[in-house]
Amino acid sequence: MKISILSLFPEMYEGFLNTSIIKKARLKELVEFEIIDIRSFTIDKHKRVDDAPFGGGQGMVMFPQPIVDALRSVRSTDSHVILMTPAAPTFDQVKARDLVEYQHLILICAHYEGYDERILNYVDEVLSIGDYVLTGGELASMVISDAVTRLVKGVITEDSNLYESFENGLLEYPQYTRPSEFEGQSVPDVLLSGHHENIRQYRLKESLRKTYQYRKDMLNKLELTKETQKILEELIKPLKNN
Ligand code: 6GU
Repeated sequence: MKISILSLFPEMYEGFLNTSIIKKARLKELVEFEIIDIRSFTIDKHKRVDDAPFGGGQGMVMFPQPIVDALRSVRSTDSHVILMTPAAPTFDQVKARDLVEYQHLILICAHYEGYDERILNYVDEVLSIGDYVLTGGELASMVISDAVTRLVKGVITEDSNLYESFENGLLEYPQYTRPSEFEGQSVPDVLLSGHHENIRQYRLKESLRKTYQYRKDMLNKLELTKETQKILEELIKPLKNN
């Protein structure tokens, strides 16, 4: 997997690329990153990359030319091109699984207030990372590259993925490690019991509890098994009586 990122602020990626799992994935050559400075493609004599919007209004709009030329310098037939913008569908774990199938991702980060709408004709899709406004697409491109990189085979242990939040349509169950007692708070007995079936049931119940508490919208999409249905009913009953 290769990920090319087009940005006006390449220095923002130094920490991201040289830390922890992303760094290891790069050193193992499981994923290759390339950061392209959009400004180096400007043909403006003052090296400008943006100007005021036609029709008036606040802020600056990025010229299409430097972005399109930067894109042409890295694009090939197997590239999948994504523009980072809040005016787009929201990225999620299902989309991350979809993107990891591409050989080459190109992420374009628009900065300042926006981009010239005509660049949409050069991209395959647009993605946002959530319902809030960032000063630029850089953080969004790191979020997406991070989520995709950890799905590349060999980057993390295969089955650590299976039980993670969102992978099974539920939020992850709570985890504990040493010490078994911390400032008067003990770890749930079942986790120290060594009884695998009881541990599985406990974790499923706690996953459902968290999902019910924080993300009821996820439960609506879930295909309920007899077991999950029964646990959910038990969870909801005492809450309703209050
Ligand atoms: Cl992709 N870009 C910007 N500027 N803000 C965002 C975003 C992207 N996703 C959420 N907010």
